Amino acid sequence: MAPFHESRVAPEPIIAPANGFVANTFPDNPTDFQHDLLTWYRAHRRKLPWRESPSLYRTVVSEFMLQQTQIKTALPYFERWMTNLPDFASLAAAEESTVLKLWEGLGYYSRARNLHKMAKAFIEMPSPPRTQEAWQKLPGIGSYASAAIASIAQNLPVACVDGNVVRILSRLTANDKSFTDSGSASKSFAPLATAVLNRDEPSDHNQAMMELGATVCHRRSPLCTICPVRRHCAGSRNGDPESYPRLAPKKIKQVAVTRGWCVQKGNLLLHRIPAGAKRLAGQYELPSSDHLPIAEEATVITTKKRSITKYRITETIREIAPPSLLPDELHWVSFDDLSDITLSGPHRRWITELLD
Ligand code: ADE
Repeated sequence: MAPFHESRVAPEPIIAPANGFVANTFPDNPTDFQHDLLTWYRAHRRKLPWRESPSLYRTVVSEFMLQQTQIKTALPYFERWMTNLPDFASLAAAEESTVLKLWEGLGYYSRARNLHKMAKAFIEMPSPPRTQEAWQKLPGIGSYASAAIASIAQNLPVACVDGNVVRILSRLTANDKSFTDSGSASKSFAPLATAVLNRDEPSDHNQAMMELGATVCHRRSPLCTICPVRRHCAGSRNGDPESYPRLAPKKIKQVAVTRGWCVQKGNLLLHRIPAGAKRLAGQYELPSSDHLPIAEEATVITTKKRSITKYRITETIREIAPPSLLPDELHWVSFDDLSDITLSGPHRRWITELLD
């Protein structure tokens, strides 16, 4: 038999009507689609630690880590986490400082705090939640994570809809609808995601969609020639799959930050973010011009660029003299103690590089 992607001659291009799904075989008969997807997934899925020896706890931790982080970044964190905090009980009993230290470098620290709170609430429950709605009552678990946990770990028939799934579904249907943000796109595609969900195999089906989005149906240059569901895909047939979904580009904001580099007798001057802060509470960073005066003519040691969501941040680090009076929240930290404190990810990299 011809390979799946060659088994049909491409029909005439489909012109998708605006604001509607294309009427082709998809999703009228989801069974063939589900079968093609599942067969491919079972043959080609990557070996990931939360897949190879799955458990409810491992699924929960992986879903928290993967919310804003790529798999290759999360992998070493996941293994270290499991060694130190192997189950809900050990996580619930851990100090917050231990939890944050294990998370250090993954960013978006509210995820770690919520995961900690979630474990504390979970161990008080008589039994694990059994519906998507019940999972969502726990801290840090929104509509995507609840669908992922309920389906992956409990095989409950709930469809996961994230950016990957929106991309796949919008291409399969050559959907022309324009979206201003990914949240509204996810909402709009939720009914279709549910319609094509394989209700006999929701766990593998959802993971297969994630896998297809991550390894084949790329945002740029999708690998249509090896796609297992190409024969169902109107976007591929009409020749421009990459143009879906029609998402308005994010408005990028440029931000400039000046930071001080101040060393004295084997100590580095750092700013400790107040405990009540919304972001990065309790963590250390190089102090910025919000915390102490930094003269414009101070020597530039290095300039770093990074991106957080829609922000493109340029951080200029300048050498400064030790302040005569130490402002609140600024602390001298000995070089020897740097490995014990929680530094936000990029700051640890910069400091390591500058002290080298
Ligand atoms: N992204 C979010 N959850 C995932 C999972 N369980 N496997 C792979 N990618 C994911």
